[in-house]
Amino acid sequence: MKILIFETAAQAAERAAHQIIDKVQARPDCVLGLATGGTMPPVYRHMAQAKAQGAVSYALVTTFNLDEYVGLAPDHPCSYHHFMAQELFDATDFSPTRTHLPYGNTADPAAEATRYDALIQSQGPIDLQLLGIGANGHIGFNEPTSSFGSRTRIKTLTKATRLANQRFFQDGEAPPNYAITVGIETILESREVVLLATGIAKARSVADMVEGPLSAICPASALQLHPATTIILDQDAASLLKLKEYYFQVHPNGQEAPIV
Ligand code: F6R
Repeated sequence: MKILIFETAAQAAERAAHQIIDKVQARPDCVLGLATGGTMPPVYRHMAQAKAQGAVSYALVTTFNLDEYVGLAPDHPCSYHHFMAQELFDATDFSPTRTHLPYGNTADPAAEATRYDALIQSQGPIDLQLLGIGANGHIGFNEPTSSFGSRTRIKTLTKATRLANQRFFQDGEAPPNYAITVGIETILESREVVLLATGIAKARSVADMVEGPLSAICPASALQLHPATTIILDQDAASLLKLKEYYFQVHPNGQEAPIV
């Protein structure tokens, strides 16, 4: 794992965005795995800004989002379809025919999960997978005790995750109990992973992911098995890492240090 620690959340988000933009510049028809959640809008703003400045085009990029709530239609304001349109797709030139999310409002969500995994397999592998992390160590909606061998499927959301995501719902509406999520094995098949975590609420799960044992109780620890993962953190999210000084020595201020 490459661990990059930045002073602020804004710097961390900018670094994550640049890794994605660099990938698209190098390979305009690459396949990206995308995430939602409160950590991601600053990343997507940088990506939109790069497009507005003419530095990059996303027209040929294929995207697969990690997850969607079961029961929410794409036009529901709290659906992840809606989030992606609002935060990224509508502000850029991503092609609607190349951007994919699972549909949460189908009659048979299990069949939809299987269809979605097969679609990723047929168009993948994902070149770069962007991830956030839950305070309980989830990636995508792979909640604690998810199998490292899991594929896209329906997961029951924990009370902690539903509580954490209540802030995105209004008018007394509660987050759904179930989501379709890309599985951990599906994530591990990506060529490259970038995980962004900011804020003190993520400090425990970040330490468990990076320095804890490989364990289904912290699904993100599966990333220890992935050969090309970059973990991008701000000071708060990095605060419980035992080897924090070492990571900073290897990558001062999150930069590549020359080997001399
Ligand atoms: C959502 C996703 C989740 C979030 C995680 C952190 O697509 O993949 O794993 O990344 O729940 O969410 P925030 O950023 O809201 O703290």
